[in-house]
Amino acid sequence: MAVARTCINHTVRFDVRNLLRAAIRSRPGDAAGDGVVTAFERRFADHLGVGTCIAFPFARSAFLATLQAMDLPPGSEVILPPITIQPMVDAVRSVGCQPVVVDIDPGTLLFDQAQLVEHLNERTRVVMLTYLFGIASDPTPIIEAARAVGARIVEDFSHNLGATVDGRQAGAFGDVGIYSSSATKTLDTYGGGLAVTDDADLAARLRRAQTQLRVTPRSRLLAKVSGTLVWNLTSSHAAWTVATFPLVRWLRRRHPGVEQTISGARKPQSAPTGPSDPWFERFTAQQASVGLELLPGVAATDRVRVANAEQIRATLRYLGVPVPTGSDGGHHVHWQCVAYIEDVERVQRGLAADGFDTAGTNLRLVCECEPSSCHHPVARAVKQHALYLPCHPGVRAGALHRLTRSLARLRPMASVTLGTATGTNPTGPDGDRLD
Ligand SMILES: Cc1ncc(COP(=O)(O)O)c(C=O)c1O
Repeated sequence: MAVARTCINHTVRFDVRNLLRAAIRSRPGDAAGDGVVTAFERRFADHLGVGTCIAFPFARSAFLATLQAMDLPPGSEVILPPITIQPMVDAVRSVGCQPVVVDIDPGTLLFDQAQLVEHLNERTRVVMLTYLFGIASDPTPIIEAARAVGARIVEDFSHNLGATVDGRQAGAFGDVGIYSSSATKTLDTYGGGLAVTDDADLAARLRRAQTQLRVTPRSRLLAKVSGTLVWNLTSSHAAWTVATFPLVRWLRRRHPGVEQTISGARKPQSAPTGPSDPWFERFTAQQASVGLELLPGVAATDRVRVANAEQIRATLRYLGVPVPTGSDGGHHVHWQCVAYIEDVERVQRGLAADGFDTAGTNLRLVCECEPSSCHHPVARAVKQHALYLPCHPGVRAGALHRLTRSLARLRPMASVTLGTATGTNPTGPDGDRLD
């Protein structure tokens, strides 16, 4: 049997039930008067140990609302990581601010501290950090440096729900934490952007922004649920083995890079696009009730995935293959199990021949610098060399054993060069600004 690199964290039956509910409920997209959204927000906030959660339709909408709530003077600088989704950059531009991209550290996957400090100045109003792959890293030094210039902190913890550092939850360190509950995330509510904060003033402003969102059309909710259902069906063991994986492998041979193009991770730089209609539609009562149903089970699936990932990482370490380490005192959730592999194409082909699907991140390298004068060499290397290995709860003991044997047989080259962000490519004063 072939093994998919990732999975939907609920069953096909669950999706079918939700598709029917979305089709027949009287006002599926209307959260008004329905306490379910409020109940879910309360539960999610309690889960993280923060004061308030405000639900938006996407993480990008929650980020945009956060920037608006912060009342930033035009021309303010917002520091972003080079690996994120393009809409985060679009959100910054749409409020008249300047995105500034700073490279990451290969161990923590958060900003390189020295390069961050170089870019902080009196115009920096927001630092938006993004945890990657479920690796728990301590954002405290970043937060302290940002606060020293009066900047506020937003944490995108879409990959790190449940990850902690010294017992503190990712998403609860800064001013606002944002979680995308989109498909394949460990809590997946058919999309959603959950903003959490302990700041009463920001919470009130975010709540006002939420009340201005439009009713979500039934067609949108149906599209979200049916998209997930198709993904769930095509990645089920049997369908994956007989149809999907052979098709993926054929496409990869015929059209190298096709997945990156389909996912948007390798789109050429296009004219900047702004926020569009779906950004401003409500997180629905149905999505909230899905969240209430699934949230209590997240920790149990996390345990299985983390155990699988730790077993794979033990083999990788034995083989001398580097992995992101995070911080001391960090509890990783391994949304994806990542290895840094030099000869990534050979290893990917070898694993595919043994039935294991792998992939790089489909997040974009938003900096788009020329390779020869790249100011973000670590992010570029992570994008190029970080390979997702299947560790989800559908990977049973036998498959895990086969995967580690397969890795040992392939012996990935251990000499991957991720470099360090600082000093590798000196930047000019405005070298990293996205104009
Ligand atoms: C780090 C990160 N942030 C945000 C998102 C998605 O955000 P949105 O809910 O706006 O689609 C993803 C999607 O995979 C992600 O990986």
